[in-house]
Amino acid sequence: MRKPVVAGHVAELVQGSRKYADIDAGLIAALSQREGGKAANEKDAAKRVKRKLHQMVGAYLDADVPFAAWLERLRSAPEALTRAEVCRELLQQHVSTRERVGELQEIYDFIFAAAAPQIVLDLACGLNPLGRPFMPLPTSTQYFAADVHRGLIGFLNDAFPLLGLAGRAFAHDLLSGPPAMAADVVLLLKALPCLEQAERGVGHSLLATLQAPLIVVSFPTASLGGGKRGMERFYQQRFLESLPAEQFACEMHAFASELVFKLRRLP
Ligand SMILES: C[S@@+](CC[C@H](N)C(=O)[O-])C[C@H]1O[C@@H](n2cnc3c(N)ncnc32)[C@H](O)[C@@H]1O
Repeated sequence: MRKPVVAGHVAELVQGSRKYADIDAGLIAALSQREGGKAANEKDAAKRVKRKLHQMVGAYLDADVPFAAWLERLRSAPEALTRAEVCRELLQQHVSTRERVGELQEIYDFIFAAAAPQIVLDLACGLNPLGRPFMPLPTSTQYFAADVHRGLIGFLNDAFPLLGLAGRAFAHDLLSGPPAMAADVVLLLKALPCLEQAERGVGHSLLATLQAPLIVVSFPTASLGGGKRGMERFYQQRFLESLPAEQFACEMHAFASELVFKLRRLP
């Protein structure tokens, strides 16, 4: 008889791997449960979970990130201007923000045009909060950021005070739903394709439950390997087709590296 696949054992196997030890335990538990049901045995299930984690998290950031050295660079930068330039360099260390760096100012200007939010919530944030010095926001804006990479979250919490930013970062798995907080602007930048790797349709249940009058959703215009293959048209069509038009007014801008939708919740 085949040995039953126990999700808890699968999660332990995954967490035992150095590459995934720093990922939110809730996400690993949820994926272990899901993939465990499809696998022949626990080893196979762990392999499937690791593959998903690679697609969702690992593909964007090196396994050994020198967070302490990054903090030292920020700490030793003599003034705000140089700290902003260190941020611009660090943005290159995460694949997703690296793609954005060439059009950083244009993209943030579009996102925050005519908005002076008191609270921004950046979900599945990666290193995007380091773009804060380039965002046209009042210094009083509180910036909250969430991701499943706990090392990244710790780094952001140490970096915020060095950058003079109000706010904090916290670990949160979006597959379990949105965080229980309201914001003036929620950013879901290039996050939905990652989440949909694990659960189809999760994007639209998130949009329905996020507590914010303005939600900004974006998609990459090229694959991680750099191939374009009509990705922009594909994401635009698929997103707009499934967007509940009676709930949101939508404004879109296609930048070279990113397709950005601003969704204003209708009363
Ligand atoms: C494509 S990157 C986008 C990063 C950032 N939003 C940006 O555009 O620069 C996807 C991010 O989603 C995070 N992520 C993956 N699965 C997640 C989940 N279930 N909940 C929260 N964040 C997740 C990854 O760690 C990664 O930082």
